[in-house]
Amino acid sequence: MKYVALLCILFLGLACEKTSNNSHTEHQAKKERGSIGQSAMVASAHPLASQIGKDILKSGGNAFDAAIAMQFALAVVYPVAGNIGGGGFAVFREENGNVGSLDFREKAPKSAHKDMYLDADGNVIPKLSTEGHKAAGVPGSVDGMFKLHEKYGSFPIAKLIQPAIDLASNGVILYEQDAENYNKYQELFKKYDLDSHNYFIKETSWQAGDTIYHKELAGTLSFIRDKGRDGFYKGVVANQILAEMNRGNGIISQDDLESYQAKWRDALTGSYKGYKVISMPPPSSGGIALLQLLQGASKYDFGEFGHNSAKTIHLMTELERRVYADRATFLGDPDYYEVPVTMLLSDEYNDERFSSIIADKATRSEEIKEGKVDIIESVETTHFSVVDDKGGAVSITTTLNGYFGNKVMVKGAGFFLNNEMDDFSAKPGVPNMFGLVGAEANSIQPEKRMLSSMTPTLLEKDGKLAMVVGTPGGSTIITSVYQTILNVIDHDMSMQEAITAPRVHHQWLPDRILYEGGGLSDEVIQNLEGYGQSMEKRGGIGRMNCILVLPDGSLEGASDPRGYGQAIGY
Ligand code: GLY
Repeated sequence: MKYVALLCILFLGLACEKTSNNSHTEHQAKKERGSIGQSAMVASAHPLASQIGKDILKSGGNAFDAAIAMQFALAVVYPVAGNIGGGGFAVFREENGNVGSLDFREKAPKSAHKDMYLDADGNVIPKLSTEGHKAAGVPGSVDGMFKLHEKYGSFPIAKLIQPAIDLASNGVILYEQDAENYNKYQELFKKYDLDSHNYFIKETSWQAGDTIYHKELAGTLSFIRDKGRDGFYKGVVANQILAEMNRGNGIISQDDLESYQAKWRDALTGSYKGYKVISMPPPSSGGIALLQLLQGASKYDFGEFGHNSAKTIHLMTELERRVYADRATFLGDPDYYEVPVTMLLSDEYNDERFSSIIADKATRSEEIKEGKVDIIESVETTHFSVVDDKGGAVSITTTLNGYFGNKVMVKGAGFFLNNEMDDFSAKPGVPNMFGLVGAEANSIQPEKRMLSSMTPTLLEKDGKLAMVVGTPGGSTIITSVYQTILNVIDHDMSMQEAITAPRVHHQWLPDRILYEGGGLSDEVIQNLEGYGQSMEKRGGIGRMNCILVLPDGSLEGASDPRGYGQAIGY
């Protein structure tokens, strides 16, 4: 059904290079909306996680309670990216309108060092930062959920973890995409299953409709429920992680686990065409890059130029090319590197930065800064959005980095570890798995957080919540969030239309526009090539789960047809 909707929107995108004023009123009436709720809404990558979030809200919990319950539930039902072995970011709004963010990003182990992924000749050793035990950063998700709960939760945490334990014990029925993913990674599961314990390994293929039981994970979650954060960072589960590290030459130590601390950070704020934009500060690059892109976009009338017209895509690309070059040079963990946030967000800087953009001619990325990279694309990570009936909202993006992280399941504990160390720059100028290059700002240091693209974001209008947005997609996260905001504000789409619409992406290097197959007409592609842009077709970009506050105060929740998630409201 969702794919039918996607096809319709793709067709719409092709048919309307430009929306005329006459059709504007008709479109208002005809907008295809997602789920509507009068008071509260959740949207996540998995219907069972959404159901749990909605149940918590309905029984009187607040947005933080629901978000915590959903994070634990996703670790069970969506193990490609949902996690307790990874990390993430939360951007939130309290009932009283205060906003903030929590950084529960993984950190480098204490014995990590700058050249740990290089051989004797100084070359990057393939796969060492993406697969296996050494690729894991110290997990932050469990500490993050406890910090969020301590400050903002209203229900006992046991009540928020129990639904995940029940799902793990009772089993989860696989969707087709789950079965495909589980089958796709069998060889890598086997390669890193050093003590024959990974229960995702199956001699025959997984099929949609199969039930998978997560008994070991249920045990781990029960420790966390009963002992708090110590149930993960100390005792049985910590020992299981350390034993796994010993088996595979990993470097996470007991000291690393015990000393992990999620960090409260001031959210970044900016404005766009009458909206206040609230997003994630470093160590995410997402907030800064999004606000820079929106500053650039505010000079253009993209609504007038038309959604996904050649002119709109060309100008978005020229902004992205410059912003991603800044990302590679200036951004890293602010506790280790002085990120020039004020400069990057100043009007003077961005006016100057974007002044070289020509309306019908591509700038070559090499002219902006030298570099040459290849890319392996991957869509992982997961985002969920929550709005409660009290005025609170939470936007969380959480990740293991690649699908199933480093592919290492912790023996006896039943969860995968992340491969987030690959988000560091292993060597300046050499691309990571998203093709992103980095510099000294994002070099590896003990206990440093690796740079992220995750962009959980909220928007307000006239002091009231207006949108909750976010997506997975590695380096494409920032541009997907950017396009969704433009789609709603400039192109007057419903939230469902905004996230269903075909997406494009440019990240400075490699120097080409990625576009979703079927998403652009031949004419638009030819026009862009005429401007000097290189075009490359790819599969779906991102899996958004977002919420829009409608003019009457009701809520539109939308889940991306590229996945099988669900928005549920009441
Ligand atoms: N691991 C993807 C990101 O943090 O951007």
